Amino acid sequence: MRTTRLATAALTALALFTPLTATADEASVEDAGHARKDTLRKAAPKGFFIGTAVAGGGHHENMPYPDPFTSDQPYRAVLAAEFNSVSAENQMKWEYIHPERDKYNFGMADAIVKFAQRNRQVVRGHTLLWHNQNPAWLSEGSFTKDELRSILRDHIKTVVGRYKGKIQQWDVANEIFNDSGELRTTENIWIRELGPGIVADAFRWAREADPKAKLFFNDYNVEGVNAKSNAYYALVKQFQAQGVPVDGFSAQAHLSTRYGFPGDLRANLQRFADLGLETAITELDVRMDLPADGVPTPAQLAQQADYYNRTLVACLNVEGCDSFTIWGFTDKYSWVPVFFEGEGAATVMWDDFGKKPAYHVLKETLAKAGRR
Ligand code: XIL
Repeated sequence: MRTTRLATAALTALALFTPLTATADEASVEDAGHARKDTLRKAAPKGFFIGTAVAGGGHHENMPYPDPFTSDQPYRAVLAAEFNSVSAENQMKWEYIHPERDKYNFGMADAIVKFAQRNRQVVRGHTLLWHNQNPAWLSEGSFTKDELRSILRDHIKTVVGRYKGKIQQWDVANEIFNDSGELRTTENIWIRELGPGIVADAFRWAREADPKAKLFFNDYNVEGVNAKSNAYYALVKQFQAQGVPVDGFSAQAHLSTRYGFPGDLRANLQRFADLGLETAITELDVRMDLPADGVPTPAQLAQQADYYNRTLVACLNVEGCDSFTIWGFTDKYSWVPVFFEGEGAATVMWDDFGKKPAYHVLKETLAKAGRR
């Protein structure tokens, strides 16, 4: 089964790669990165995308370092060498890319897409309809319903349209349900002001703007079968019955060693696959409670590696789960210590890009899958 699927996926992948010829002044240290051996992307089976978030924007702007993506050459070299998929960590979110009503800020998103093309990487677009990281002009503005609707429509047409043909998967709707499986009718400005039907419209507009991009629902705490993932399952079925274009369901997978591993991840992804959807892991990290000296114990690192590995194995075992993204690859730039007090060390590499057990186990599992 998997072999057939991988062959198809490989063809799709070829079609998605539209490599640009780099001009001499664009050539830089990372350019040959994608050709390096002994990396995650080389170990991955054909048609399988191993991705990372590209650090910048969001919490990074309050940290004592310059923009990671544009300033840190060793970071760029690892980014190019290890991954064949990249996601904008913040640079395509509303507050970043649409800072004023009549002004877009495409510079960094353009740079990420260009970097990806030079390094033969696909791009996940993140995100179009969300309750967080919206600009003040939007969340604090007073607009009529008609105005709000056309603001969303114009945004989706403009942003998705700009990268038409260059984005493999778009997180169209992000985190629209709470953990009880109820729509976020107060937090989410779009749903609050325009009603739940706006979610379907967002998918329709995204499809019109880029018919080839795969359109996803994305959320956290939907790894297992639970109230929230059940809500997505019901909504996907409703969309399909109504002919609303939805192609994928993805689990962010922000995991913590505080909690048990979601052992029904594979079964949960599989039920969406059975509806004909693609599935993906989009933001995997595995945080832990740091000891007083800040250094994880070998046992903690082993447990972390196990969580990373089980997440990958679950995805590899589901037909149509071809995209597996970690939310940053180095602790140097991880969002975890900023958002989860006392927790950290959540990525697969230390600050100096030294590799943790989690990195090695991912590579081994990818390599084994490749030989199947
Ligand atoms: C996080 C970023 O990593 C931070 O830089 C930012 O300050 C806040 O958002 N779910 C998502 C991601 O969909 O966009 C979030 O990313 C993490 C949770």
